[in-house]
Amino acid sequence: MNWWLKKCLYRLAHLIMGIVIKRINVPEPELMTGDGSIKKLPAQLKKSNVRRVLIVTDKGISGLGLTSGLIAELENMDILVTVFDGVQANPTIQNIEDGVKIYSRARCEGIIAFGGGSPIDCAKLIGARVSNFERSSAQMRGGFKIPKKLPPLYAVPTTAGTGSECTLAAVVTDPENREKFSVASPHIVPLSAVLDPELMISLPPHITAHTGMDALTHAVEAYIGKIGTSYTDAQAEKAVKIIFEDLEVVFKNGKDVQRRANMALASYCAGLAFTRALVGYVHAIAHNLGGLYGVPHGKANAIVLPYILEFSREACQVRLARLAVVAKLGDSSEPENELSLRFIEKIKAMNADMGIPSKVDELKEADIALIARRALREGNPGYPVPKLMNQRDCENILMRLLP
Ligand SMILES: NC(=O)c1ccc[n+]([C@@H]2O[C@H](COP(=O)([O-])OP(=O)(O)OC[C@H]3O[C@@H](n4cnc5c(N)ncnc54)[C@H](O)[C@@H]3O)[C@@H](O)[C@H]2O)c1
Ligand SMILES: [Fe+2]
Repeated sequence: MNWWLKKCLYRLAHLIMGIVIKRINVPEPELMTGDGSIKKLPAQLKKSNVRRVLIVTDKGISGLGLTSGLIAELENMDILVTVFDGVQANPTIQNIEDGVKIYSRARCEGIIAFGGGSPIDCAKLIGARVSNFERSSAQMRGGFKIPKKLPPLYAVPTTAGTGSECTLAAVVTDPENREKFSVASPHIVPLSAVLDPELMISLPPHITAHTGMDALTHAVEAYIGKIGTSYTDAQAEKAVKIIFEDLEVVFKNGKDVQRRANMALASYCAGLAFTRALVGYVHAIAHNLGGLYGVPHGKANAIVLPYILEFSREACQVRLARLAVVAKLGDSSEPENELSLRFIEKIKAMNADMGIPSKVDELKEADIALIARRALREGNPGYPVPKLMNQRDCENILMRLLP
């Protein structure tokens, strides 16, 4: 099929996608925010009659003792706690299965996802698997493949990046194929989300930078895509405004609790935007850099974002210009061409200031065709991007990412 015809079909798919997504009732978690808000969580479990809970986290977080206050509060309320801290970054199918076993053995009745996107996504799939035991994680790949509701699920993000605490997505790594895949269902949106900035103070600067740029990528890709609404636009603009104001400051001073709280909110708003308006090729490529080489998700997005924006710029100049104004990089009376270019240049400068490279050290030329193929399988027509890309376009961009 020629490229022109394919593009028409992809656009038709995007049109249908936009109509369908507007009709889906995407649940939103009950939100608890502010310093010390974690203390409110045990009462939520009581309300749902959860007597035995599984905390899903990773070794970094449990090693820092970030969960200990919560565990003590839960036990004070006679809620029995089991901890599974075996989640890896870019969580694998095996991590999910390990969690399922522990959940079942301890006869848990609910799950607290405590950590960055990796523990939250792993917890979502543990919940999906325990209530849909006949389906494997791989069989849940794609959209709407989780028939039954999850046990009560609560999310406590400790990074400000993925927005997974409010999205209907989870990203899983299949180590056999060295590939990441997404699962999407309204059932995996957590019941409650706790945005407690105190839990983010310990984030080292490089993770603050990577995860913050992930949130920015969510907001930008949702905003320039073809199926956004006034609601998703407002959420994305709010996120972009905060990230441009606060990310570099909090990168330099991680103890700034107010800015940590702002970034947590930005990540949440960006999540609300992209869970409805979806993401784009930056994510499609980043997922493959994560799956093949284990590049941290936010770092991969941060590196790829300016390249994809340059590729797409003419098709979304007006939107990028508006984001430049939101980010206080200029005035709406200036030419859109200049504003959109300035927006992309500022992203490059933010990356450089925060020590994020402009190339992917792990990338091998021999893998480029495969990465492009997999990224386009995910992105076409999966993401309603402003400018469509074919295999050659994608390979050209990847060539520029070589170290
Ligand atoms: N479900 C979604 O909607 C969605 C969206 C975007 C990304 N993701 C996925 O999320 C994953 C990435 O999540 P992430 O970027 O939050 O990173 P992560 O969860 O992999 O964590 C990265 C590292 O940060 C450490 N860490 C986390 N919080 C900390 C804290 N407060 N103090 C000190 N260290 C801390 C962890 O121990 C870990 O070593 C990827 O798998 C990505 O594909 C999911
Ligand atoms: Fe992301």
